[in-house]
Amino acid sequence: MTRIYSVLSFFLCSGIAAAFLFGNAGNGPSAQRAADVNKGMEIAQQICSTCHIVGKDAKGVVKADVPSFTSIADKPGQTTEFIVGRLVLPYRPMPDLKLTRLEMADVAAYIMSLREKQ
Ligand code: HEC
Repeated sequence: MTRIYSVLSFFLCSGIAAAFLFGNAGNGPSAQRAADVNKGMEIAQQICSTCHIVGKDAKGVVKADVPSFTSIADKPGQTTEFIVGRLVLPYRPMPDLKLTRLEMADVAAYIMSLREKQ
């Protein structure tokens, strides 16, 4: 049951994420710009680096229970939508960071830019 729930919430999550990312594409005045990797890097350094290692190299204190952004990026089958889903509905102890959807898309694009696996 728990498993079914988590599978369901994963799809729900990806659905929300996809709607966030693509829902408004090319829709008149509120048309969104494409995700910006550099903005995502700034957000990562300002907000996420309190807990995560956000760059390619581990600098400073590494928290053992927080995945680094490179390890998140290199998870098998990782996608931008999954990362945004995690930001929309974070697991504890990851806090809800109240980012805008554009900020989520930017930071997810930044994380995916760290991906080295195909
Ligand atoms: C207060 C500490 C904290 C902050 C700040 C934080 N995170 Fe996290 N994050 C965590 C922890 C702890 C986890 C692991 C949760 C778990 O056990 O699944 C996590 C997990 C994640 C995951 C899921 C990884 C996976 O493989 O399931 C993503 C994506 C993520 N964080 C992105 C971000 C982004 C982007 C930011 C900045 C906007 C951020 N986090 C800020 C603590 C934090």
